[in-house]
Amino acid sequence: KQNERESLFIVLNFAKDYYHSHLLTSEEGHSIGLSYFRERGFLDNTVQAFELGYSSDQWDALLQEAGRRGYRPELLEKAGLVLSKEGGKTYDRFRGRVIFPIHNVSGRVIAFGARILKTDKNQPKYLNSPETEVYHKSQVLYGIFQAKNAIRQEDICYLTEGYTDVISLHQAGIKNVVASSGTSLTIEQIRLISRFTQNVTILYDGDAAGIKAALRGLDMVLEEGLNVSVATFPDGDDPDSYVRKVGAEAFRSYLSRHSNDFITFKTDILLKDAGDNPFKRAEIISEVIQSISKIPDPIKRQVFFQKTARQLQVDEQTLISESNRMLLNQQ
Ligand code: CTP
Ligand code: MN
Ligand code: MN
Ligand code: MN
Ligand code: MN
Repeated sequence: KQNERESLFIVLNFAKDYYHSHLLTSEEGHSIGLSYFRERGFLDNTVQAFELGYSSDQWDALLQEAGRRGYRPELLEKAGLVLSKEGGKTYDRFRGRVIFPIHNVSGRVIAFGARILKTDKNQPKYLNSPETEVYHKSQVLYGIFQAKNAIRQEDICYLTEGYTDVISLHQAGIKNVVASSGTSLTIEQIRLISRFTQNVTILYDGDAAGIKAALRGLDMVLEEGLNVSVATFPDGDDPDSYVRKVGAEAFRSYLSRHSNDFITFKTDILLKDAGDNPFKRAEIISEVIQSISKIPDPIKRQVFFQKTARQLQVDEQTLISESNRMLLNQQ
């Protein structure tokens, strides 16, 4: 078992090197892949730091090169790098795409994300490695290896949605940033962050989907005792596009002006939804109380009851007794 994992790491590392050198040295990789990254504003240093690559637009370029190096097709398949058709024909999973290697916390490559170059309705924008013996999507945060020291140093982690958010912010000097890669946050990912800091600011895309995703993960983060804030971007922007538009300094200042603690953020959104409808307002109050009740530290809970009471224009004592009632009902 240990041997098999080790073989997977080795073949994944080979694939990473192959895609990376293809990007830098082949005519196709250079003119298509590297040009794409340059157009996005990625500097060569950044391409190096994230070991970005390019997969040739052929059926089996990786498979062939792997064969020449003595890697068996079955191993490539276990690593998620190739697929087999029913007739037995084996071919590369990633073709004609730019490649984002996904590293584990100690820097070993465990999977890949692969982006299409031009928008095409018939193809997903990103293809990702499947679950393998070494890749469990729900336990991974993209960029954690490149970010971990900065997260510890700054004592805060920025959590984004996508690969390119991590990379652009890193390039702008904001290095304490990781991505959940488009899925809703899991408890394993939160525990991974909490090895380095107790403070998280969620920077999700400024669209309805991003905001929904932000709300979904959050009660869980509170339960783990982390301090959570949320900053949303103007509709249509994500951290990548926004930092490229305004630069690092303005980005930081935007964050400091637009970050809200999670409870305030949630209350705000729910209130906007409810308008003047008293029934809806009552529902909100119990939703927010539920979130506050998840916070393990009683002093922090107390602070949030005070703050939220003002925001909702209800009596703080009402919130507290409602919370106690809810906790009793759950037992
Ligand atoms: N994602 C995915 N599969 C898709 C779309 C998205 O796995 N078909 C994941 C990727 O990890 C992606 C993240 O969800 O980085 C966020 O999606 P999105 O905001 O659509 O992509 P961006 O990261 O903004 O990519 P780009 O700027 O290149 O469009
Ligand atoms: Mn495993
Ligand atoms: Mn999005
Ligand atoms: Mn984007
Ligand atoms: Mn995005």
